[in-house]
Amino acid sequence: MIQFSQVSYQYPNQSDWVLKNIDLTINQGEWVSLIGHNGSGKSTLAKLINGLLRPSEGEVMVGGVELTDENLWDIRRNVGMVFQNPENQFVGTTVIDDVVFGLENMGLSRKDMQYRVDESLELVGLSRYKYREPFNLSGGQKQRLAIASVLAMLPNIMVLDEATTMLDSKGGEELVNTMNRLHKEQQLTMISITHDMKEVLMADRVIVLKEGSVWFDGKPVELLQKDLRIEEVGLLPPFVVKLTNALKKRGITFKEEPLNIEELVKQLWIYRSTT
Ligand SMILES: Nc1ncnc2c1ncn2[C@@H]1O[C@H](COP(=O)(O)OP(=O)(O)OP(=O)(O)O)[C@@H](O)[C@H]1O
Ligand SMILES: [Mg+2]
Repeated sequence: MIQFSQVSYQYPNQSDWVLKNIDLTINQGEWVSLIGHNGSGKSTLAKLINGLLRPSEGEVMVGGVELTDENLWDIRRNVGMVFQNPENQFVGTTVIDDVVFGLENMGLSRKDMQYRVDESLELVGLSRYKYREPFNLSGGQKQRLAIASVLAMLPNIMVLDEATTMLDSKGGEELVNTMNRLHKEQQLTMISITHDMKEVLMADRVIVLKEGSVWFDGKPVELLQKDLRIEEVGLLPPFVVKLTNALKKRGITFKEEPLNIEELVKQLWIYRSTT
């Protein structure tokens, strides 16, 4: 579905190479997590997939076709992008308007349009919110609306650039569940840039970029087996681990290491009753 052959990228008037000799094949239906430190080149790679940027060297093929000025528009329609802050992506005054907007210049009949809008809102679980104002949705719902607007265009590929980063844990979970559903039911090819460990573990494959090169490419469990500190690859430790460490620094001791919030709360009660 996506093929990078010896792709390098340099921003105009910059001396550094942001991406260096990337060779990559992503198959139809694969769910790939793309991770790496700030500045490692993740967003640049994402923009090369949908033609927002063109490689300085090498070749990018999408669906077996090389990107050219002629097919740029088709490829952009075929590669849906969802970014970090959903509010910047809304154009409609209601949820339904927002999805319709992207379809308006596609020459669809009213019936087809309606079908696509209903179908994509159903897929992300927002059918009940059709007439809401997008700004009144929760964070997770906003991102799912952004996904629905992209899905209505019937893309083969969806690229999510830190789509879960701004969400609270509930919103993040909703979004990852939606991604899982799209992966299983629609066989959508998904590339998701993330710092979220849970999301990485659910993907088929994880690619780690380091200073513009592919540093790891394999199954998520294989990455964990490499026995590295997750901070080294740009992942954030889970919230509960960060909180536990912060509490330890304040002198609170734990009998057992809590693995989730419920356990942390339990351990805190135990600590309190013994001091
Ligand atoms: N428009 C631009 N012009 C010049 N340099 C840029 C531009 N955009 C990004 N860069 C540089 O390219 C490098 C890679 O940036 P990129 O945004 O692809 O990284 P990233 O992995 O997505 O980082 P982050 O985790 O912060 O989103 C960085 O050094 C960045 O400063
Ligand atoms: Mg980025």
